[in-house]
Amino acid sequence: MNDGMVLVTGGAGYIGSHMVLALLEAGHEVVVLDNFANSSPVALERVARLAGRAPRCVEGDIRDRPLLDRLFHEHAIADVLHFAGLKAVGESVANPLAYYEHNVGGTVTLCQAMAAAGVKRVVFSSSATVYGEVAEMPLHEGLPAGTPSNPYGRSKLMVEQVLTDLAASDDEWSVALLRYFNPVGAHPSGEIGEDPLGIPNNLVPFITQVAVGRRERLQVFGDDYPTRDGTGVRDYIHVQDLVHGHLAALEVLRERRGVGVWNLGTGRGYSVLEVVEAFERASGRRIPYTIAPRRPGDVAECWTDPSRARQELGWAAELGIARMMADAWRWQQRNPNGYRNM
Ligand code: NAD
Ligand code: UD1
Repeated sequence: MNDGMVLVTGGAGYIGSHMVLALLEAGHEVVVLDNFANSSPVALERVARLAGRAPRCVEGDIRDRPLLDRLFHEHAIADVLHFAGLKAVGESVANPLAYYEHNVGGTVTLCQAMAAAGVKRVVFSSSATVYGEVAEMPLHEGLPAGTPSNPYGRSKLMVEQVLTDLAASDDEWSVALLRYFNPVGAHPSGEIGEDPLGIPNNLVPFITQVAVGRRERLQVFGDDYPTRDGTGVRDYIHVQDLVHGHLAALEVLRERRGVGVWNLGTGRGYSVLEVVEAFERASGRRIPYTIAPRRPGDVAECWTDPSRARQELGWAAELGIARMMADAWRWQQRNPNGYRNM
């Protein structure tokens, strides 16, 4: 199956660490590049323990061209899974240049080094945020890209455009733009999971931190949306399903050139209150919450039509909300302070 190593940028992060484990388990040779700006080397130690073998690890930055040139020179890399980047929406509003530098500039530098090394296959972590505000659900890949409501989202859309232009200029490139919906959950071992720095922005890490006693109560951002119970609806996808979608995309890219765009979600939306309920059932803990004002930039609903990924990648999400919550809870319970309680 292997015709070279897989480079995983951002491989120590939340999704990247699950990806590295899945790649090792599928028999791939893996090299990780991460600057640990938002992650811990402990995640990779645990991945190595779970897999029974370790990935190669390089501490460094995707903006560092000489480092990238050395990396491609020293390793026979065939594919790049590109997760590295900054992802906090609020921070992107306060510091847009950092987001354009890391996400857009970093990707340009990575692609330049790839082109120089003759490595022209890349899977990019995009987001449903590139659709912008769309009135009708579900979202499908035939819709035009919209206007994301913040610099983070716009940086994702810009990278999609950069990669599309690149593939148009050189037909040797194979590019997958994977638009994630809402990744949640953790590896079933409870050994690796999501470990946000500071106060979590996202719903599920906030809930698990309330359950473990790190936060007092959840704030539900708005109960007056035009949804079944007034709270926001999202398409939550188990991180394990998500990384299996990447393995499927990698296989397909090896057989085709050009750009493929695929939504990765389950096709089913859950409201904030439904997620709280599902978590309470899975954990046996009560999650106190208060209703707060809407969060600026939030949409009422967001879920995918998962048909294209099923047809073209032969992939569909399998794990439901109960598993997502049980696995998120196991991770949080075993690691109340994330990777910092070592
Ligand atoms: P994460 O922050 O846990 O992982 C990103 C990793 O990239 C971290 O380990 C960080 O240290 C590293 N990194 C950041 N800048 C770097 C740089 N310049 N050079 C090298 N390494 C760098 O985030 P995640 O949730 O695992 O997300 C992975 C990717 O998926 C990101 O590109 C993110 O934008 C995208 N994405 C995530 C979500 C989500 O909800 N988690 C949704 C849609 C898209
Ligand atoms: C957010 C980002 C999006 C990013 C995605 C994945 C915003 C505006 N959007 O999406 O760009 O791609 O994360 O990282 O930040 N909620 C609460 N209380 C909380 C947290 C969230 O009620 O403490 C609600 C939100 O209003 C929303 C739902 O829970 O209805 C999910 O929120 P979140 O997990 O932050 O994801 P998104 O808003 O979908």
